Amino acid sequence: MTDCVEVSCELPVEAEELLPEILGQLTVLGAHLGDAVGTAVALRVYIDGDRAGEPARLQAALAGAGARRIEVRVLESQDWLAGYRESARPFAAGRSWWIDPHPDAPTAAPIGRRRLAIEPRTAFGSGSHESTRLVLAALEALSVRDKSVLDIGTGSGILAIAADRLGARPVVAFDVDREAIWVARRTAIEQDWLARPLLFAGPIAAVGRYEFDVVLCNMITEHFRPLLPDIRRVLAPTGFAVLSGMLETELADVSSVLRGVGLDVRDQRRSGEWLSLTAVRDDG
Ligand SMILES: C[S@@+](CC[C@H](N)C(=O)[O-])C[C@H]1O[C@@H](n2cnc3c(N)ncnc32)[C@H](O)[C@@H]1O
Repeated sequence: MTDCVEVSCELPVEAEELLPEILGQLTVLGAHLGDAVGTAVALRVYIDGDRAGEPARLQAALAGAGARRIEVRVLESQDWLAGYRESARPFAAGRSWWIDPHPDAPTAAPIGRRRLAIEPRTAFGSGSHESTRLVLAALEALSVRDKSVLDIGTGSGILAIAADRLGARPVVAFDVDREAIWVARRTAIEQDWLARPLLFAGPIAAVGRYEFDVVLCNMITEHFRPLLPDIRRVLAPTGFAVLSGMLETELADVSSVLRGVGLDVRDQRRSGEWLSLTAVRDDG
């Protein structure tokens, strides 16, 4: 199985400004621009390996922009999920979702349900875990149409794609795991509609001073706890933060940390031992 093609080159510094136009024509999974060395920068672009012709088009465009030492390398994916993928069946989640693990052999959603094509890949977020399902249910309850949504730790991109499906605009999603962002980009282009979450690999600091109407964060308590002051910072005054991935036994502790950063819990959901909380700013 070919998952990804890496095209690397040395690009003249003055050609950097052409990159948005060049890359905008392709299914880019990720790109990395190194520091300038002399008059050139090292560029690596990763393209979906299933898109025939794209590596050659990129090579030609880069050559046209003056790039040198252009190299193309196929990155073979370790497909350790192949067996699981084959056996996976579509399933209903929440009141209105239909999670279909087979983008290439779609199963129509039952009436009243919205299909999300989520092929199980290396990033967390196939939709089968309770913590993900709790956020999918919370999203149904919030009116996110035309609201801005930030998805922290997007993994497979499932929550960002679900928010996009509900009409949220813009949807920004990121993960500290670069590979997760490749998976999320790929998953986004497999939907039945033009899903457009803005995806990036990096830390929450990269969100800068923007504020969001809805902030989603599904990760274990140990991971989201240090992010709470930032979550409060990027939450709009009348916004909602949905935090999932904690165990019921952690509720008292998490609630007190939330109060400490200026967030009030307004709602909670449970599934088995898992819990999600919806919180607002205490000045909201
Ligand atoms: C449990 S997965 C959730 C994936 C998906 N959002 C879902 O709900 O199914 C948590 C994700 O958070 C990411 N993560 C962990 N710490 C992070 C941090 N400090 N900033 C951004 N992402 C982080 C992990 O790489 C992982 O992809």
